[in-house]
Amino acid sequence: MNAWSSTQVRQALTKRDIAYVCFTFPKLVAHLAYKPFFKATDATTQAEVKLQEDLDALIIRPIGRGSLEELVFRMDMLYKLERQGFCIINPPEAIEHCVDKYDILAILEDACVPVPRTVATESVNEALKAFKELGNDVVVKPIFGSRGQGATRIVDADIADTVFKAITFHHGVIYLQEFVAHGHSDIRAFVVDGRVVAAMRRVAESWKTNYSRGARPQPATLSKEFEELAAKSAKAVGCKVAGVDILEGPDGPRIVDVNSQPGWKGLQMVTKVNIADEIVEFVLSELKK
Ligand SMILES: Nc1ncnc2c1ncn2[C@@H]1O[C@H](COP(=O)(O)OP(=O)(O)O)[C@@H](O)[C@H]1O
Ligand SMILES: [Mg+2]
Repeated sequence: MNAWSSTQVRQALTKRDIAYVCFTFPKLVAHLAYKPFFKATDATTQAEVKLQEDLDALIIRPIGRGSLEELVFRMDMLYKLERQGFCIINPPEAIEHCVDKYDILAILEDACVPVPRTVATESVNEALKAFKELGNDVVVKPIFGSRGQGATRIVDADIADTVFKAITFHHGVIYLQEFVAHGHSDIRAFVVDGRVVAAMRRVAESWKTNYSRGARPQPATLSKEFEELAAKSAKAVGCKVAGVDILEGPDGPRIVDVNSQPGWKGLQMVTKVNIADEIVEFVLSELKK
């Protein structure tokens, strides 16, 4: 909640004299069959906030880590609020798609967006076959991961066997992807309302180019093709605000990730566009509709 990007949003609201409250999901209470249907406690003032009565919109910053039960409950509350006509950015459907790496790429493929060859399975044997099919050089990722955590490049069949068995032992889904030789850098495009408002090249020391892992942001101006790919990707998964990761491999661009709750600390260093302003202006325009 006190993360850099959230603070930027608060400043953008303050500049415009727009009152706001901040709270985390554990401070949210859902009532059924009596009102208020949703209330929360403001983190600063400890005041009680009735969501539908007191607020116009919700900007969801990271939905947070939690058990499956907690995350499903959080999503259920967002869906209920949305059904009641409440403005939520990003829409719950987009958040749900984007926590799941298989789902993101499956939807992108339906939308004819180029994605890396990827295999997802619960079977160790099938995963081992896929390891060969993908050229004995793959990236294995947790389906629900982020910030590059848990992603591993595997080029050895014995290690693949051990890793795949460990994943299934813990009832995980094996998700493996051809390694896209991008030369230690990629593109992060920031999309707001169907338009790339800013972009950067992330230059890393290794194949993981996440800013949170130390990749250096560099200014980048995108080609029309990349802008369209990023916008199309965000739209396909239902994101009004999105961070789209584009890998440039030998066979052309591949969209590898769409983030529904992206931070922009690194990006803000290399762009003149105030990203928080863009988000706030977009939310205000939604409320006028
Ligand atoms: N198939 C791949 N080939 C090469 N590098 C990859 C591949 N998939 C991911 N990476 C690298 O790992 C980083 C993290 O992967 P990503 O799919 O974006 O997951 P997340 O950022 O949610 O952890 C990417 O930004 C990219 O640098
Ligand atoms: Mg990513």
